[in-house]
Amino acid sequence: MTKTRKKLIAGNWKMNGTLASAAGLAVALGEGLEKEPALLEACDFAVCPPFVHLLAVRQQLPVGVALGAQDCALNREGAYTGDISVNMLVDVECDYVILGHSERRQYHGETDGQVAAKAALCYEKNLTAIICVGETEVQRAEGCQEEVVGEQLARAVPPTATAGNTVIAYEPVWAIGTGKTASPEDVKAMHSFIRRHLKEQLAEGGNMRILYGGSVKPDNAEVLMSTENVDGALVGGASLKADQFLAIARGVK
Ligand code: 13P
Repeated sequence: MTKTRKKLIAGNWKMNGTLASAAGLAVALGEGLEKEPALLEACDFAVCPPFVHLLAVRQQLPVGVALGAQDCALNREGAYTGDISVNMLVDVECDYVILGHSERRQYHGETDGQVAAKAALCYEKNLTAIICVGETEVQRAEGCQEEVVGEQLARAVPPTATAGNTVIAYEPVWAIGTGKTASPEDVKAMHSFIRRHLKEQLAEGGNMRILYGGSVKPDNAEVLMSTENVDGALVGGASLKADQFLAIARGVK
């Protein structure tokens, strides 16, 4: 059950860094976790570097920190210039793939249908999909956040999703990179809505992890991570510094 499962603290490094800085960040995480092994008992960890940094990060990543990609191709292989297949991600020993991040939806026109198709490809290869949902500022102002997120869940999460192969990340678009975090009340309300929706939609919906993402920082982590139905965090900016990322995990009590 969600109560006994460890929280997942996942870092989305987005389009940042160099080969050297990415590898250095992986080393720094290892050093930090070696000093504070209790964090590994409290949390599962994952980091999602840019594609071209995956291998270098894999080689430096400490035990207990899984590797993830930020997207995958919609097709298995072939003439798809610029795309990266799930097989390629398996080859560099990825465990997770972020799908449907709002930045992919906004800048690449990614649809819920495409997210579902990509998730199904991930399941074939035993990759865990981190499927992102979340409303925009306008949608929240109009009060239709539950309708928006409910529709995203219904369309982007395949019927074959299980608590093992899928993690949901609720990331209100207006809270990403803005320093504006959703209030604990808003997070509680949305996560309990997502939980109810997943339970109705899927056999294992009651056990599926639901992460919160959007300006998660060391100083708000404890409150967010102790909110009901919050099973971890998807961290952007603060995941680029090992000490901040680990300080967020320290907020898990
Ligand atoms: P920030 O933590 O920088 O707001 O980014 C959140 C995010 O988009 C993680 O996927």
